[in-house]
Amino acid sequence: MSEPLQQHPVLVVDFGAQYAQLIARRVREASVYSEVVPHTMPASEILAKQPAAIILSGGPASVYAEDAPRLDPAIIESGVPTLGLCYGFQAVVDALGGTVERTGLREYGASPATIVDTSSTLFNGQPAQQSVWMSHGDAAIAAPEGMRVTASTAGAPVAAFEDDDRRLYGVQWHPEVLHSTFGQRVIENFLLRGAGIEPDWTPGNVVEDQVALIREAVGDGRVLCALSGGVDSSVAAALVQRAVGDQLTCVFVDHGLLRQDEATQVEEDFVQATGVDLVVVDAKDQFLAALAGVTDPEEKRKIIGREFIRTFEQAARDVVGQEAAEGHPVEFLVQGTLYPDVVESGGGTGAANIKSHHNVGGLPDDLQFTLIEPLRALFKDEVRKVGRELGVPDAIVDRQPFPGPGLGIRIIGEVTERNLDILRRADAIARSELTAAGLDAEIWQCPVVLLADVRSVGVQGDGRTYGHPIVLRPVSSEDAMTADWTRVPYEVLAQISNRITNEVEEVNRVVLDVTSKPPGTIEWE
Ligand code: XMP
Repeated sequence: MSEPLQQHPVLVVDFGAQYAQLIARRVREASVYSEVVPHTMPASEILAKQPAAIILSGGPASVYAEDAPRLDPAIIESGVPTLGLCYGFQAVVDALGGTVERTGLREYGASPATIVDTSSTLFNGQPAQQSVWMSHGDAAIAAPEGMRVTASTAGAPVAAFEDDDRRLYGVQWHPEVLHSTFGQRVIENFLLRGAGIEPDWTPGNVVEDQVALIREAVGDGRVLCALSGGVDSSVAAALVQRAVGDQLTCVFVDHGLLRQDEATQVEEDFVQATGVDLVVVDAKDQFLAALAGVTDPEEKRKIIGREFIRTFEQAARDVVGQEAAEGHPVEFLVQGTLYPDVVESGGGTGAANIKSHHNVGGLPDDLQFTLIEPLRALFKDEVRKVGRELGVPDAIVDRQPFPGPGLGIRIIGEVTERNLDILRRADAIARSELTAAGLDAEIWQCPVVLLADVRSVGVQGDGRTYGHPIVLRPVSSEDAMTADWTRVPYEVLAQISNRITNEVEEVNRVVLDVTSKPPGTIEWE
């Protein structure tokens, strides 16, 4: 039987909407812990998790479609406070004997809604007219018996209902979408007023809970962690360090493909801030030698991956051997797995915080560890908050997602010391200007790419130059699955371009990538 990642979660039942994870995030933004479960999970299993409340998500289906996902009445009869959204709303209306029909008036996008009762549980303190985000063809035209209709729109006469006695609530629209101007208030009102939940899920409490769990699992065992310099492994390591102190050893393989200052930030600032016991393996020359003459992107990835595993294995063996000699076998390995990975791999329902006996990333048989995944329940932005709570330096906590193969896949052409040096200097300028312009929150990540194989013609003083172009690839995204190019203001682009061409003499051209994903990936290689 599966257990939730934490006690008494608010469960978001996913009826196939792209919004389910977003709903869980909005609940957590209200300081209430939430998890996503699939609609195929039997009601008995959902209720066995003892949820504090249930939210039924939207979905693409019509409740009358033959293959429409069904809502088991056991859920709404259970007494657990329940909120239906969009399809979830119609499913409740249908299950309780109300009427859902094709009204012929489809509503998509921002629509005006009229709130009938602004003192109701969901709409308390909100204006009677508000803009809500709609996406529906069917509409409820008659509420089930005993339900109060609390809002309407042009296309949906019954656009919201409430039943405080049975603790059932619903809205036809998507309150989780920011375009619904009072959406977050509706969600908070449901959680705090409707379900009576105490909003106490905070970064401080997450740290406290995880520290206790890790201590319990690890006992006086020894723990190993591969530190990459990224947000996830750094915060995971800091949490484990907080829990078991010197029983943790971190290994940082410096492959020489990080950006300017990043290795130092790990080796010095992170260690100083957290007190982590760190083994640094300087493998720069080894990686450069292995990459010499290679220009094919896939080949580069393979080489970097292979060298990384080799180097980490060797370092792990050294640590394991040393600890064993002192009578401390290393049994545990830390991994920075995040909640979206857990949900997407279908493990969101059955995952405990600490899973046992996994063979991580193809480690050999003599290096078998029990996994510790203290970030399994968290989204990226929550990991950042936990990191700040733990005192992880801002430069690491605020770091953009960065690919494992690092700058190796941002050089089109051969990865050499010279090319890495050019790219590092250009990248540092772009990063500092984007930060100075206050664009970090808007930009998901901004790969800076060196076209080392391309020679562009320039003119400087009286002479022609043959330099390289640099590509700026700023993208906005929620999860890197899809992305749009960020509309960085012209003045900021001009400043970056001027500085790079002035300060990095090997570069005589700066170009902007204006491709969304799809069709373009975020990285160039
Ligand atoms: P793409 O380029 O596929 O990237 O749109 C999506 C996200 O994944 C990152 N990325 C990688 N991360 N190893 C990683 O750890 C890789 O080989 C790799 N390739 C791309 C990329 O930076 C973006 O955030």
